[in-house]
This record gives sequence, C-alpha cells and structure tokens, in this order.
Amino acid sequence: MTARWIGTSWKMNLTLSEAETYAQSLSHSLRSRPELTAGVQPFIIPPVTALSAVRGVLGDSSQRPGGIKLGVQNAHWEDSGAWTGEISVPQAVDAGAEIVEIGHSERREFFNETIRTTRLKVRAALKHGAWPLLCVGEPQEVRARGHASEYILGQANGALEGLSPEQLSTVLIAYEPIWAIGASGRPATSAELIEPFQALREQFGGHVASLLYGGSVNPHNAQDLLAMKDIDGLFIGRAAWTAEGFTEILELAASA
Ligand code: PGA
Repeated sequence: MTARWIGTSWKMNLTLSEAETYAQSLSHSLRSRPELTAGVQPFIIPPVTALSAVRGVLGDSSQRPGGIKLGVQNAHWEDSGAWTGEISVPQAVDAGAEIVEIGHSERREFFNETIRTTRLKVRAALKHGAWPLLCVGEPQEVRARGHASEYILGQANGALEGLSPEQLSTVLIAYEPIWAIGASGRPATSAELIEPFQALREQFGGHVASLLYGGSVNPHNAQDLLAMKDIDGLFIGRAAWTAEGFTEILELAASA
C-alpha cells in the first residue's frame, strides 16, 4: 500500500517561536515513536514566515523524523517579477517547501483564486519539482442541489488539464467541502463523502499520488475517515495547530 498522506496547514497562525516549539515537540514525538509514521507521509504547511525556521528545527529532508515534508499555502505562477506581496515557487522551494497548496477555498473566496490561476500554479509547482496539493470543494448550495461531484470534478479537471501521466503522478488532491471547513463548518459524515470520493477515484484513481479529505478532521472522526476505501489521507486544520493535536491524530491513524 502507498503511504497515507496526513498533514496540516497552520493557515495564518503561529509566531516564529511558537512554530519552533511545535516543530521541536513534533520532532521529539516522531523520533521517539517511529510507529506513528509507519506507512504515513506526514506533512506540515506553516505560514511562509516560519517555513525556514521549521526546516531549521526538523533538518534537511533526508534526515527528518518520519520523513516529514514541508509546504507553502500558496505561491505565484511566475518564477519572479513585479508581483508585490507574492512569493514564487522557486522562492518557496529555496525556503524548504516540497509541497505547494493550491486553490484552498479560503483563497478562492477571498483572494480571487480561479480555475485558471490554479492551473497556472499547478504547472509552476511541477516545473520546480514540488508536489501540488490541489484543494477542491463545493459550497453548501451546490451540495443541496445534488451537484457536488460535478462541481469538484470541474475544479480538478480545470486545474489538471493537459498534464502528462508522469506529472499527474505527483499531484495530491484534497477534497474539502466548504461547509465542512473551519469553526463555522461541520464535519462531513461518511455517507456524504461516498459519492464525491467515488467520482474523484473514478477519474483520478491510479493517476494522482493521493486523494485526501479535509474539513473539521478531529480525533473523533479521523479513524472513520481513514477507514473509507477511497480516502487515502487527511488534511487537517484546527485540530493539528498544536503538535499534541497532530500527534494524537497520527496515533489514531497508526492504531486504525
Ligand atoms: P479545519 O480546516 O480542519 O480547521 O476545518 C481544514 C482546511 O481548511 O484544510
């Protein structure tokens, strides 16, 4: 079986010292308990301000506990230039990113991310040897009308159009229904996930590296989610914003 990808985005949280403390604590747990990451590809996506500090604590990729990977929450599609406030994939990679998160619903909703920009960013990530982590997910109204699968396949096909099989094989897709994300969201039930994951599996199974679920993942639902046959991994927000929270979910995954 291929590894389950289990990771977290810290979103706009944690100062440098908090990030270092998190990384030290996680590093200690993963080094002392290698069983926590057996069959798991763990990852952390800190805010970009803390990326190189986290890399400093965890060490170079070859010596990291559990082989943990690092990423960024967004990156521009151009390599460089006059794009005030943005960072490029080469800059992200230089600072330690191996994963580029693309198209999170918060970026689509508040920062004008479109299918076109997600496509450009996927290509930029691949060009520089990073794993694109493409997020897709429907709003509540679309789900209520019964069009969730069609909507997310539209997002995924739009972003991944024209990629070679080799390129697709390093893409990760996270299905994150918008109504399930964040403090005002509610976790999706297993029943609600069957159809969208089947749709993603039919289209991308065996082609992309992994299909993850995200949206209010927590210690109560992590094992049930991982037990679903079409879910290969978990993308966690709030529940993994402390090292203890992340470790607890890794423990549950290991004992599932
Ligand atoms: P949450 O965030 O776990 O806090 O709901 C998930 C996400 O946005 O990826």
